[in-house]
Amino acid sequence: MKRTKILVADTPQNHEKWLAPLRRALHNREIKADIHIDYSGCTDADYVVYSPKSGLLDFSPFTNLKGVFSTWAGVESIVGNSTITVPLTRMVDPGLTEGMVEYCLGHLLRYHLDFDAHTSRDIPNWRPDLLPKLARNRRVGLLGLGVLGQAVATAASALRFDVHGWSRRPKSISGITTHSGPNGLDDVLALAEILILLLPHTHQTNDLMDAKRLARLPNGACIINPGRGALIVDDALIAALDSGSIAHATLDVFRTEPLPSDNPFWHHPRVTVTPHIAAETRPETAAEVIAENVRRAIAGEPLLHLVDRTAGY
Ligand code: NDP
Ligand code: OXD
Repeated sequence: MKRTKILVADTPQNHEKWLAPLRRALHNREIKADIHIDYSGCTDADYVVYSPKSGLLDFSPFTNLKGVFSTWAGVESIVGNSTITVPLTRMVDPGLTEGMVEYCLGHLLRYHLDFDAHTSRDIPNWRPDLLPKLARNRRVGLLGLGVLGQAVATAASALRFDVHGWSRRPKSISGITTHSGPNGLDDVLALAEILILLLPHTHQTNDLMDAKRLARLPNGACIINPGRGALIVDDALIAALDSGSIAHATLDVFRTEPLPSDNPFWHHPRVTVTPHIAAETRPETAAEVIAENVRRAIAGEPLLHLVDRTAGY
């Protein structure tokens, strides 16, 4: 039986991390495969495991290709690539989801409990007036109710936050008040004391949070953005932070990454920058998802986590 040829297109630092977990996950499914990391000599690959950091743009030399499996959840860098004429999947993996829940809940609790005020080094810092509300009285807005948004919404709701989510299509999720469409967005923004962005970057979501939408948030709202930098108009956010109408923003993703050293977000007293680490793809769990899709492709079964290339995510 012919061996399956898989090309891992990632950065040289990351290649090594994939090899053992992928071999193990393929072996567990009794798939006889060779894994390659050098794509110049691999134009007959059956499948490409693709990281946007690989720089691979032209898939036309891969004449035997049957599937491209993104190691990232967000696929804005590849979804419009016309040289990909085979199914494209994105990463949905329990490790990634757990990481995102932890990141969002950590920063949500920081804002909710006003950690910064109570951990200030101004002594004496005895501020009983800064008694936090109970979570059930704190309104949280979640833009995006996909795999990650739903997991974060459900975890926040388990802590009894009053969670309002927004998605493209209407949804029903236990414990969450759901909204959709342009009016639904306005409704969520008007009540979100803490707003979390977990939308993909598409033509529709580009610059979504402009000055007008930022101004709809309650005065003193906080923003957590692990979605994509281009969801927010940077200058509008800085103006809102300067005026105090937005009290603080935690930003994990940016229009340019790594965030350039002269970017004003680095120095803004009301911004926390994290380096696109909200949720990392961990090969130990992600390799299982990729191997399962290889198995399905060979067996002619439907692939998991197919990207809807018309919707852009
Ligand atoms: P999903 O595709 O599962 O969910 C996307 C959600 O966004 C869906 O609820 C979708 O609505 C909604 N949506 C998309 N377009 C619109 C629109 N125009 N209007 C309203 N809602 C819209 O993605 P994930 O949850 O897996 O991931 C979300 C994003 O998180 C990724 O695209 C990526 O950018 C980011 N990410 C960041 C990471 C980090 O480390 N910072 C790590 C992983 C992901 P519907 O349900 O109706 O389709
Ligand atoms: C992402 C990812 O899409 O890390 O940001 O998966």
